[in-house]
Amino acid sequence: MALLPIIVAPDPRLKLTCEPVTEVTDELRQLMDDMLDTMYDAPGIGLAAPQVGVTKRIIVVDVTKNEDEHHPYQMVNPEIKWRSEELLDYEEGCLSLPEQYAQVTRPEKVRVRYLDRDGNSQEVEASDILATCIQHEMDHLDGVLFVDHLSKLRRDLILRKLKKYKAQLPPVKVGAHG
Ligand code: NI
Repeated sequence: MALLPIIVAPDPRLKLTCEPVTEVTDELRQLMDDMLDTMYDAPGIGLAAPQVGVTKRIIVVDVTKNEDEHHPYQMVNPEIKWRSEELLDYEEGCLSLPEQYAQVTRPEKVRVRYLDRDGNSQEVEASDILATCIQHEMDHLDGVLFVDHLSKLRRDLILRKLKKYKAQLPPVKVGAHG
């Protein structure tokens, strides 16, 4: 198990458009396992590769609450094939925006096509919090954060708070491992 450092906004690395994966390699399977470990440890319900500094179209999601019933998704090159017209308001947070929450409106249901960890094409129809979470993580792959769905006023307020929060963090040791 390896925990990866999570990038905190504002950071230009969170604004990049990620590249599609051409082949699901052992290296990427390891990355996805480490992303899940990092997400569970945080704890969170979703994590996208750019949040750990990897500019590839990969997300991990697990919205189950009970540890004994883990149901993780590891999605490579996820694509939304269908969205419901019905919308859902949900109070969203993000591991890259610690302690910040805001209500975001998104389609209540989506059908998503992706490659699984074996490189096989899969489709899942998600609703409710799973649909919200998948859409939130997929936004990260195009450099979009949940605050980008808010008014400029609210977004700037949250990003200012995060800048202050980051200024108080201890400096990262160069060459440190783990
Ligand atoms: Ni996020």
